[in-house]
Amino acid sequence: MAVGIFDSGLGGLTVLDAVVKRLPDVPFVYFGDNKHAPYGVRTADDVYELTTAAVARLWDEGCDLVILACNTASAAALRRMQENWLPKEKRVLGVFVPLIEALTQRNWGDNSPPREVDVNHVALFATPATVASRAFQRELAFRAIGVDVEAQACGGVVDAIEEGDMILAEALVRSHVDALMRKMPKPEAAILGCTHYPLMEAVFQDALGPDVKVYSQAGLVAESLADYLVRHPAMLGEGKTSKFLTTGDPRKVSDRATQFLRRKIVFEPA
Ligand code: DGL
Repeated sequence: MAVGIFDSGLGGLTVLDAVVKRLPDVPFVYFGDNKHAPYGVRTADDVYELTTAAVARLWDEGCDLVILACNTASAAALRRMQENWLPKEKRVLGVFVPLIEALTQRNWGDNSPPREVDVNHVALFATPATVASRAFQRELAFRAIGVDVEAQACGGVVDAIEEGDMILAEALVRSHVDALMRKMPKPEAAILGCTHYPLMEAVFQDALGPDVKVYSQAGLVAESLADYLVRHPAMLGEGKTSKFLTTGDPRKVSDRATQFLRRKIVFEPA
């Protein structure tokens, strides 16, 4: 009964941490494609090829359900995977929809027509590939009307986090927030549309100021996964053991992960 959690690298650990706390009895198999991170500067075809290879590896671990804890893969590859690739008995869920449902004050799976919501000016921080896909705006338009979204492609932030250079990551976050606020001086809400960014959440909040509500995905994804598993218990899969797999250097990746989650994490080669 294992569930797979996939990210290009370390960012999905923010989601893993939340799902483990919410569902302590479920084994999770984490796959970080650290060798190929960052995905955010890759083409959609490239992201699709890498993501399908990683998800297929998670099937081999007995996971019938995989969470793409990666906005870039959710934006650039998920729809194509669901349309052309996914075997009938498997499921892949992205991380966009729970966030947009929270922003638009909807319950899980509420597919009623788009309506006016409380926020009108939303700042989106995401990778260049996620911003270019416009997937966030597309999903939002299904649910809300009259929301102005200003997107900032945050080049460099994921690389700095993967390298463990948090000083550079902080400087980049501050400069991306400045750039966004030149285009939209008073956002009411900010979306951290990359699972690496919650590791810098305090810096985003500080740079944006206390009046901006910052939405990050981990808790929202954990709640929607818990809800999904109540409705689809068979999707727990056959795997029984939690583990961490990486395509990168297991020692280096384990050290960074241990530093981020503040508990011992040991990665194995994927
Ligand atoms: N953490 C991922 C995301 O949510 C991917 C970042 C990257 O590899 O560029 O977009």
